[in-house]
Amino acid sequence: MKGVILAGGSGTRLRPFTNATQKQLLPVVNKPVLEYVVEDLKRAGIDDIGVVVGGDYPEKVRERMGDGSAYGVELTYIHQGDPRGLADAVHCAKEFVGDSPFVVYFGDTIAGGDITAELVRGFDPDEHDVGIVLKAVEDPTRFGTAELDGEGGIRRVLEKPDNPPTNLAYVGVQAYTPAVFDVIEDLEPSARGELELTHAVDALASGADTYWTETSDVWMDVGTVEDLLEANRHFAEAAAPGMTGDVSEGAEVTGRVSLGHRSTVEAGAEIRGPVHIGERTVIGGDAVLGPYVCVGDGCEIRRASVRSSVIMDDVEADCDFTLEGSVVGSQSRLSGDSDPTLRVTLTVGPDSEVTLQDWGV
Ligand code: TTP
Repeated sequence: MKGVILAGGSGTRLRPFTNATQKQLLPVVNKPVLEYVVEDLKRAGIDDIGVVVGGDYPEKVRERMGDGSAYGVELTYIHQGDPRGLADAVHCAKEFVGDSPFVVYFGDTIAGGDITAELVRGFDPDEHDVGIVLKAVEDPTRFGTAELDGEGGIRRVLEKPDNPPTNLAYVGVQAYTPAVFDVIEDLEPSARGELELTHAVDALASGADTYWTETSDVWMDVGTVEDLLEANRHFAEAAAPGMTGDVSEGAEVTGRVSLGHRSTVEAGAEIRGPVHIGERTVIGGDAVLGPYVCVGDGCEIRRASVRSSVIMDDVEADCDFTLEGSVVGSQSRLSGDSDPTLRVTLTVGPDSEVTLQDWGV
């Protein structure tokens, strides 16, 4: 079994963060989503993996993930060019796949628990044309959604339906045989001008030769800023604690906290887990962090209170307000002497500067 990760696309719903990188490299507890994907495939026994790259920053994906040896897998990069839809991205892998069955993994999703391993175990390429995993979701209008036939089969699969027949979305990990390439070659672009993978899944799944299962394990689609916050929140609770950095006497650290190599928490700071802090980051004496905060590498956070937020690498914050439900992109700066009781929610793109100043009335 081979793996194909879709890591192109333009990630418009994750702007401004995708103005500087591919969305699959955005951090969930200080680790790119794509690393979760590769590690999950490896756990399921798949180590020959094609990575379809495109969008604006394909070279960043390559730089970060390398040849895969750091993860014990072999990565082969496949160029899509302009994003023309998920089915087009899958078709780009035709040569890489050859005559092997394969798993497709959306590179901006994380499948928890046993989803991928179970799919690989249950899918039999001699018997099935497609394998999918269904999961009950809150908003099926955002996903490819399945209608069941009541006899253990799937009647059809609809792309982002206005009137979803069920709340069962197919998750971002599927199994195929190379027969899918013929189906894709017959697809017409949808109303939004893309070759929809859901149309290929529908054509294959409405036949008899489908493997499907339903899961209650966590599956996260990290497609929007809210999704990014939610994924960080969820995995912050599960991520291993560990203190390789330095906590000064007089700092208060409670709950599930990790502090990376050469990071410091100065006297007077308060950290209430879950909080995960990367390497070479300084948390100053007046800062209060947590719960549910992830701070990247090379940051300096002074005076601020931060809750339920994601702060990416090399951010400098020296401000007296409380940041809540916020995402701050790499290399940005926050400052302000306004009102210490002020609570703000900010979406700050990479390389940006935000100053909050209280001018009175
Ligand atoms: P989408 O979530 O549809 O990705 P997108 O980049 O189109 O996002 P947005 O709607 O915000 O603009 O795609 C799921 C995954 O597939 C994601 O990892 C990006 C990848 N992808 C490709 O590799 N090629 C493509 O042509 C498209 C559309 C997506």
